[in-house]
Amino acid sequence: MVIYFDNAATSYPKPPRVLQTMADFLQRCSANPGRGGHQMALEAGRMVLEVRDQICRFIGAGKPEEIIFTSSATEALNLALLGGLRPGDHLVITSMEHNAVARAAYYLKRTGVELGVVEADQWGMITPEDVARAIKKNTRMVAILHASNVTGGIMPIVEIGRMCRKAGIRFLVDASQTAGVVPVNVLQAEADMLAFPGHKGLYGPPGVGVLYLGPGIELEPRKYGGTGSQSENLEMPNIIPDRYEAGTLNTVGIAGLGAGIEFVRETGLEKIAAHERELTRHLMEEIEAISRINIYGPPDPEDRVGVVSFNIEGIDSSDVGLILDQVYGIAVRTGLHCAPLAHKTLGTLEQGLVRVSFSIFNTHEEVDQLISALYEIIREY
Ligand code: ALA
Repeated sequence: MVIYFDNAATSYPKPPRVLQTMADFLQRCSANPGRGGHQMALEAGRMVLEVRDQICRFIGAGKPEEIIFTSSATEALNLALLGGLRPGDHLVITSMEHNAVARAAYYLKRTGVELGVVEADQWGMITPEDVARAIKKNTRMVAILHASNVTGGIMPIVEIGRMCRKAGIRFLVDASQTAGVVPVNVLQAEADMLAFPGHKGLYGPPGVGVLYLGPGIELEPRKYGGTGSQSENLEMPNIIPDRYEAGTLNTVGIAGLGAGIEFVRETGLEKIAAHERELTRHLMEEIEAISRINIYGPPDPEDRVGVVSFNIEGIDSSDVGLILDQVYGIAVRTGLHCAPLAHKTLGTLEQGLVRVSFSIFNTHEEVDQLISALYEIIREY
């Protein structure tokens, strides 16, 4: 039996109700929503509408139409960035961003968008003051992750959002590591756009992501094609969400995401967060005493989601991951976690990091097994 500590990449296992809902949907009504007037298409359409509405309530959005379904958080972030910026605009990101934002931003830079990268501190944390200093006259958008996928550090998005709203700057939040674990309320955070995947803290399947698009925010679509609406028009329709949802939706993924959100709601987001925090605190307390282990990110577990990244002096992070996997049956993610800017900030670009990330299904005993394994590895290597 594998001990799975790679939930920041994708959560495992999925709750039985997610698997069941997806199987039921495929068996019963996997027709194309919005593309036909028959009963099955209508039922598929109703399901999509219900999940849209469920997500709207979950993140405190105003209207279900503001929820755009995408294939991933990456696609959602690409739509927000590439669809919302033009040459001459100034974009502010941070040195902790995942490549989903960083690569899109560096692509935009080649097209004439001006790019500012706010440097994080030694813990990989960003302050609202850091962001304020990066704002210029032509700043059109600030994009920041809600929590780092490398350190788990939770960023002060409410304060940054408030500042952006006052300055009339679009605020884009990457909630990939927080949706389902930290309360996300788009109105409170004054987020104009917020992206997240279905397959991490929301316990849905991969292949479905979401972009919340606030009132009055218009983007250039990044996909062109059939929407089942205004089919006589050779331009993309102006109605949302259709304008940004060309092509057949991943209905089975959306059904699974709906079941995942229901699981989080019933279990209680606070309970999930408290459980992951307890595991985080336990692991950090036990391994920070080990002289060859260095932990990265904010020292207080309260400032993190359930992520602990560390290195063992003298052993490459990928070797540690290999030994944990092959000798102890413990799955972690090592290397650069698709976030080279973050590793540069932390000084771990060469060695990478060993990342342990939790879900509600992990236990205290599993963490104890990891701690014993680390003691043995240090003794033997
Ligand atoms: N972004 C995901 C991770 O951090 C895949 O592992």
